[in-house]
Amino acid sequence: MKICVIGGTGFVGTQLITTLVAQGHSIKVITRRPERNRHLKTLPNVKVMSIDFFGNKVLERQIDTYDVVINLAGILNPSGKNTFEQVHENIALRVAQATQAVGTPRFLHMSALHADANGPSEYLRSKGRAVNKILAIEGLNTTIFSPSVIFGHGDSFFNRFAQLLNMMPIVFPLTCASARFAPVYVGDVVDAFINSIDKPETYGKNYALCGPQTYSLQELVQYTAQQINSKCLIVPLNRFISKPLAFMMGLFPGAPITLDNFNSMSVHSTCSNESQNEFTQILNVQLHSIDSVVPAYLAGRDFTGQMDVFRSQSRR
Ligand SMILES: NC(=O)c1ccc[n+]([C@@H]2O[C@H](COP(=O)([O-])OP(=O)(O)OC[C@H]3O[C@@H](n4cnc5c(N)ncnc54)[C@H](OP(=O)(O)O)[C@@H]3O)[C@@H](O)[C@H]2O)c1
Repeated sequence: MKICVIGGTGFVGTQLITTLVAQGHSIKVITRRPERNRHLKTLPNVKVMSIDFFGNKVLERQIDTYDVVINLAGILNPSGKNTFEQVHENIALRVAQATQAVGTPRFLHMSALHADANGPSEYLRSKGRAVNKILAIEGLNTTIFSPSVIFGHGDSFFNRFAQLLNMMPIVFPLTCASARFAPVYVGDVVDAFINSIDKPETYGKNYALCGPQTYSLQELVQYTAQQINSKCLIVPLNRFISKPLAFMMGLFPGAPITLDNFNSMSVHSTCSNESQNEFTQILNVQLHSIDSVVPAYLAGRDFTGQMDVFRSQSRR
């Protein structure tokens, strides 16, 4: 198949594209910065390019004759013109409308668990508005995926906490410690996307994707600390301290938490048994636990290992 992926350069996209290429598909990846994505350019049958999404028929020309369009574009925090509304709503809707206009047989869209136009954070509201608008487009064979936090090699969750624990070796003050998550393995998310492509019963559906177990944020940070041999004391902060702290931290670029992240975590990121069964049975996915995957990529992320990661990130 010829598959076009928007938002394919990130953590999920890289895993998805690598799997699709191994299955013999031909991929076009649309990114804002093709020069930064050499890891994809070296894969066979992958074209990486930049376009103006809103240029007249520009996107339509790129996806015409394609079999599947996948939209993964998303942000956790806005920056400059890259707002939640622009990325989650305007770009998603533009991609969905162009896909429908050229008659592409299949459209897959990535949302987030508990995305809701009336949700507690702008992240969840913008994702929720997009889902409502996309599902209202007639004649588009859409499937939507709404995961809890996704883990795997290169994730921004366990790796980020490992990095923070190494930076604060004595005490780690943790906001939203009782928020609950059901971390889902990136390989399982990729399987759900790929297995849905030729299943008409998934058209028009929005699947919640959760891993096999739920944990509090405190449990997950403690687990990360164990994996990297950190002796740091994790101190849960209550809601009355967490909220103003999240607000203040969010004023700085690259902050570990913002007020919007805090608001997102006021809804537990977990699934009902019914939606969990739909995910595993209809999409035919065998779930992986964190313990079967995370230790392998956190190994070596102790303080010395972390220096190696920094060196490799700065290409020195
Ligand atoms: N990771 C998780 O735990 C998690 C959980 C729930 C939902 N999700 C959703 O899953 C999707 C993929 O997540 P990820 O972890 O792979 O994210 P990621 O690594 O940050 O990648 C995000 C992708 O979005 C693209 N993007 C951002 N702003 C864009 C813009 N203005 N125009 C076009 N593309 C833009 C980026 O493309 P370029 O920078 O190359 O242009 C990149 O390929 C996102 O929609 C995210 O909200 C992720």
